Amino acid sequence: MRRWNSIWAVGLLWLSTPACATPALTAATAATDAAVALLADVRNPTTTEAMLRNLATLARTCAWARRYDVIVFHEGRSDALRPRLEALGNRTRLRLRARDISDEFATHAPATTDWPRRRLRTFGIGYRRMCRFWFSGVFELADVRNLTYLLRLDTDSELRCRPRSRDPFELMARQRAVYGYVAVKTDHPMVAKNLTAFGAAYARRVPQIEDAFYRFPPHAPTNCPAPMFYTNFEIMNVSWFAAPRAVAFARAVDATGMIFGNRWGDAPLRWLTLALFAGRSQLLCFGGEYDYRHRGPQDHCGLSFNISVAGCQAAGGGAPVLPPPLPRSL
Ligand SMILES: *[C@@H]1O[C@H](CO)[C@@H](O)[C@H](O)[C@H]1NC(C)=O
Ligand SMILES: *[C@@H]1O[C@H](CO)[C@@H](O)[C@H](O)[C@H]1NC(C)=O
Ligand SMILES: *[C@@H]1O[C@H](CO)[C@@H](O)[C@H](O)[C@H]1NC(C)=O
Ligand SMILES: *[C@@H]1O[C@H](CO)[C@@H](O)[C@H](O)[C@H]1NC(C)=O
Ligand SMILES: *[C@@H]1O[C@H](CO)[C@@H](O)[C@H](O)[C@H]1NC(C)=O
Repeated sequence: MRRWNSIWAVGLLWLSTPACATPALTAATAATDAAVALLADVRNPTTTEAMLRNLATLARTCAWARRYDVIVFHEGRSDALRPRLEALGNRTRLRLRARDISDEFATHAPATTDWPRRRLRTFGIGYRRMCRFWFSGVFELADVRNLTYLLRLDTDSELRCRPRSRDPFELMARQRAVYGYVAVKTDHPMVAKNLTAFGAAYARRVPQIEDAFYRFPPHAPTNCPAPMFYTNFEIMNVSWFAAPRAVAFARAVDATGMIFGNRWGDAPLRWLTLALFAGRSQLLCFGGEYDYRHRGPQDHCGLSFNISVAGCQAAGGGAPVLPPPLPRSL
């Protein structure tokens, strides 16, 4: 098996001299400025069990996972969670730590919404807070802002490495990518009301990106399909998402009240942010790099949808153009 250099500092140096992309054969040392992060629901034993099981699988199959911190965000007391994380850390040598984010949650969320219907109970206030947290709240945390990259997983994300799977952070750094993902889909229309129209209106107020992967429809009706990155696996360049233009966009989203009002999700909002400010070459599709499952295998870099609703096509009629799967030779 080919072994790439895994010393972070060297990886960054290497970026400043892209002409000499020779893999160094040095031994692995700890890279401290990237982390894997999850948001636990400490009140739900079933999802917590699943999360611990999935983390054990990650540790067993991905050597690189032990080189980074694994942050388990949670809201409120974690007396039950902490010893279990410690035991898992002892057993797997994952560098696990619990991080209480109650303050972040409390600051932005209304106490209730008028729309957590029984039929859609996962779309209640807790879910909406989660959406806001992953969309923008996470980048407000000082210890996250200190990181170069964050790999986010959900409690039910099953990430297994194959023998040839590579370190995702090294791949991000080598490509100078700002965002890594495994699949692109569309969100449910019930929870994406006016989302594309909002993005399109915002796009008219900011400079256009040269090699944008998506052009907003010029006169989007309120019912346009909402493309999304499937954010239960995503890797973010933290400074890019913490930069003023992304923060200003997040404030504009907050001002609509639609995360809590209509349950706009972090996934289509991530798409909007990247469509507004990122070029195609800054995206990296990890579909196929890992055996990744979230309600089934997720390994499609291509578009699995067709934006065919009248008025919702991109300016000029073009479909989104996303990068191909990342090559083995990278
Ligand atoms: C983890 O390992 C440390 C050091 O060996 C030990 O003190 C601690 O009790 C262990 N924790 C658990 C929960 O197993
Ligand atoms: C962020 O990094 C700086 C410099 O390394 C360090 O002094 C500071 O304590 C870190 N802050 C947090 C919140 O981790
Ligand atoms: C939809 O979004 C546009 C652009 O942000 C806004 O002007 C309009 O009022 C919104 N319509 C509804 C029904 O929310
Ligand atoms: C992350 O994004 C920032 C802001 O765009 C950029 O300056 C930085 O070089 C990027 N980091 C890496 C490691 O590519
Ligand atoms: C998208 O849908 C439209 C209308 O149903 C159809 O004419 C078109 O061929 C489809 N395009 C693709 C790429 O599937």
